Amino acid sequence: MSGAASRNVWILGGTSAIAQAYARRLAERGAGLVLVGRNEEKLQANAADLSARGGEASVETTDLIAADFDSVAAGLFERHGQPDEVVVAYGLLGTQPQAVADLGHAREIIDANFTSTALWLLAIRARLDPKRPATIVVLSSVAGDRGRRANFVYGAAKGGLDRFVEGLQHAHARTPLHLVLVKPGFVDTPMTAHQKKDGPLWATPERIAREMERAVERRRFVVRTPWFWMPIMLVIRNLPRFLFHRLKI
Ligand SMILES: NC(=O)c1ccc[n+]([C@@H]2O[C@H](COP(=O)([O-])OP(=O)(O)OC[C@H]3O[C@@H](n4cnc5c(N)ncnc54)[C@H](OP(=O)(O)O)[C@@H]3O)[C@@H](O)[C@H]2O)c1
Repeated sequence: MSGAASRNVWILGGTSAIAQAYARRLAERGAGLVLVGRNEEKLQANAADLSARGGEASVETTDLIAADFDSVAAGLFERHGQPDEVVVAYGLLGTQPQAVADLGHAREIIDANFTSTALWLLAIRARLDPKRPATIVVLSSVAGDRGRRANFVYGAAKGGLDRFVEGLQHAHARTPLHLVLVKPGFVDTPMTAHQKKDGPLWATPERIAREMERAVERRRFVVRTPWFWMPIMLVIRNLPRFLFHRLKI
């Protein structure tokens, strides 16, 4: 790919494994990267890794979930100028049994995956130069495609995010701002560290990153990744309720 050189890319969730795999691809082409997150030490380590690969990486520390979104966004624009691309990569899987028993945990999951992300998108969009091309990449999940007993708190938050991004895509269909919604399946990252990873449905963050990059280049609107999640979720979404309710998923 050409054109990544001197691209100004911000990553909200600069410690995410998927985001780091994606950022490495851009760093190798000399992109400027701003890693935003809460863990200064981990962000600095990731920034050093990206700089060693040819990128120009800097770090911004903030509480992504409970920030004063408007003023933090204003500060980012002041210090880093207009971004060419913003990647919203942070998220919280949490645990469904805890979420249904503890409203505090349910709120944490909803705030991390929906509320804060929606507010970041509004705060950033309001400051983007409407005449300048820009891309926003949002990491959602196939879990948002249909409510399931096993993870409907996380799934609903991602599903809400899907609708929100869909609305922004509609609003910006004829503007230079393009939004890409990336919906991975199972990915081997710290988020899924507690899960067993046997079986053909698991993917590496590098594979997701490669497909994210392709989706950005091709100006896709929605990608389920790896590709096999597209037919799987097509079936899951369209399964009649009387059959769906028999599944223990
Ligand atoms: N891994 C999967 O199987 C999978 C599947 C579908 C979708 N996704 C989505 O892909 C995105 C990236 O996930 P990943 O797999 O790369 O996971 P990851 O490596 O575990 O990264 C998760 C990111 O979210 C941040 N985060 C989590 N809880 C937070 C909190 N309470 N406050 C602030 N930041 C918080 C983490 O920051 P710290 O480093 O500071 O904790 C980290 O940057 C997420 O939106 C996730 O929902 C992942």
